[in-house]
Amino acid sequence: EPVPSFDYVIFGATGDLTMRKLLPALYRRFAAGQVPSDARIIGTARSPLDDEGYRERARKALGDYIKGDEFVDDTVARFLGLVHYVSLNGADAGGHWAGLEAKLATDDAGRVRVFYLATAPDLYGAIARNIDEKGLRTAQSRIVLEKPIGTDLATARDVNEGVGRHFPESSIYRIDHYLGKEAVQNIIALRFANPMLERMWDRESIDYVQITAAETVGLEGRGGYYDGSGALRDMIQNHLLQVLTVVAMERPSSLDADALRDEKVRVLTSLKPLDAGNLGANVARGQYVRGMAGGHEVPAYREELPDAAPSNTETFVALKAEIDTPRWQGVPFYLRSGKRMPEKLTEIVIQFRASEPGLFGEARPGSRLVIRVQPDESVILPLFVKQPGNTFGLGEVDAQSALGEAGRAGFRDAYEGLLLDAVKGSPALFVRKDETEAAWAWVSPILQGWATAGSGPEAYAAGTWGPESARALLAQRGHHWVEDLAA
Ligand code: BG6
Repeated sequence: EPVPSFDYVIFGATGDLTMRKLLPALYRRFAAGQVPSDARIIGTARSPLDDEGYRERARKALGDYIKGDEFVDDTVARFLGLVHYVSLNGADAGGHWAGLEAKLATDDAGRVRVFYLATAPDLYGAIARNIDEKGLRTAQSRIVLEKPIGTDLATARDVNEGVGRHFPESSIYRIDHYLGKEAVQNIIALRFANPMLERMWDRESIDYVQITAAETVGLEGRGGYYDGSGALRDMIQNHLLQVLTVVAMERPSSLDADALRDEKVRVLTSLKPLDAGNLGANVARGQYVRGMAGGHEVPAYREELPDAAPSNTETFVALKAEIDTPRWQGVPFYLRSGKRMPEKLTEIVIQFRASEPGLFGEARPGSRLVIRVQPDESVILPLFVKQPGNTFGLGEVDAQSALGEAGRAGFRDAYEGLLLDAVKGSPALFVRKDETEAAWAWVSPILQGWATAGSGPEAYAAGTWGPESARALLAQRGHHWVEDLAA
């Protein structure tokens, strides 16, 4: 599918996300021949830089994040030729908008314009207004909103309304890079292209589901943002609830963007509301203290904060969600995410019900389907088979299929496909307004409950799987997190 000519205008162009994710992703697509040679990438931020100054920074970022033989001097030089910069405070109507207008000047009315907002979200409304009022929004314009969309339901609505006054919803692309991950998209194929799985995908066959996104990193110097956010807002409200919608949704009538998102939003609005006054039964929160990670001692979360201030911000959350639909009645969906865990692991475990004890002696555990998103992309289905020899002893083998091959040849990073989807005008893998708001509405009682609770997060040692209460959450029903199952 050819990519039309485009101008990508990035607000927040000197920020971490642009350097770490956006420029490398655009470079890779350029190297793959998918970026037209007359495309322009126009960074804007407040820093007083010119094109050359910004290209210098971009070159350094590519050097840092594009490794090995992917970094080709000549390709980098040609890519940087597409990169421009305008010093502009996007939230300020009195800023140097004429500079941006001059850069964007074109004779081609069909040229696509993407405005990518990667600043603080409370500026999104003002930036959208300025783009509109300065006459820069064309019929072929879209606006991409980086997460977080607000910090709670009220501020999310403010962002959506502020941007919505200046761009129609059909041109607003809320990015959630988990939807750009190959293995997450594969859940849809696995579920609906394999009748065997499709028939078993309900409360009759499934005992419980767990979705884990564990990271080994700590604060990574992002204290200013993270300490005001915490794991619930940073990972659960968006990434993990998005994965949950794909695992739990009903079969959409088509793969059309709105058919898909209608089903996803139905999952979110069917989540059983949590009780802010009694979170203990459903939610565990933790904050890491000193521990061992990667073979050496690492500091506590509080020690990583710039002023080593006391903080009640959670670096780990585990919770039990239930979906109030005939398909999922009574099936717990356990979600958890944390920093400073023992490994970088993102995976979905579908635990099927156990069968009655019988032919092979003691009760057998139910089958388990694992969809691994990171570190490698694969589908794992452990099967019991007869052990070789003249006996009916059982052993376990893994039916495992790497999804990675295709992924490697395509995208290295989830942002690559999504950035081009915005150019092509394919919103299926972006989050609709009602999805974001339904997700915030569901996490609201947790935020409220924590705000009024007398206590803060539980401590867990860095390099462990989180506080004891995370395990207790599953133990209530005799369930186990996957690392305990494997042991
Ligand atoms: C981001 C969060 O959205 O996702 C980070 O802000 C987190 O805190 C990151 O590290 C995880 O993404 P991935 O793709 O590495 O799992």
